[in-house]
Amino acid sequence: MADRMRIQLFRGDITGHRADAIVNAANSSLLGGGGVDGAIHRKGGEAILEECRELRASHYGGGLPAGQAVATTAGKLPARWVIHTVGPVYSEAEDRSAVLASCFTESLRVADGLGAESVAFPAISTGVYRWPLEDAARIAARALRTAEARVARVDLVLFDEAALAAFRRAFGTT
Ligand code: APR
Repeated sequence: MADRMRIQLFRGDITGHRADAIVNAANSSLLGGGGVDGAIHRKGGEAILEECRELRASHYGGGLPAGQAVATTAGKLPARWVIHTVGPVYSEAEDRSAVLASCFTESLRVADGLGAESVAFPAISTGVYRWPLEDAARIAARALRTAEARVARVDLVLFDEAALAAFRRAFGTT
């Protein structure tokens, strides 16, 4: 039986977080943007964007579909890899929960492929993509707790108090 994955919650800036891999809430272009995507590219430097461009040129001509994940170098960040995943844009009309859950499970699958032992996630889709925090936290908690992965440590790095509080409620930690 694989050891249970250890999940911890932090308040902070994921670009300074120590983990083998940090997850980027990217867009399908993989060519950067605002929010955590902008912070990762700004602090990680050109090397990340260069590998993203190569991914676009080689495997993802049409862009990375929502729910999927790919890895690049972490450049100047204190991590070895950045795992870019594209969250779904929140929709009132359509239930995209499975796509959001896939961002977590696919990122873990990529992390396993790299041999990463620790992975840090932001609150994917809860910024520009407008997913309500409480619901996103519930989806993240269920996806991470049921995932079959060799990754030993998963950190959720929340940027503000509201996100931390929502994720604490979802993960049942005070
Ligand atoms: N560290 C940790 N979390 C962060 C950071 C950071 N440096 N910066 C922002 N966040 C948080 C936001 O507060 C939000 O809770 O990450 C969460 C996700 O927000 P976004 O970065 O806006 O990502 P998302 O909602 O998935 O939208 C993705 O935004 O930046 C563009 O290129 C990106 O088009 C894509 C879209």
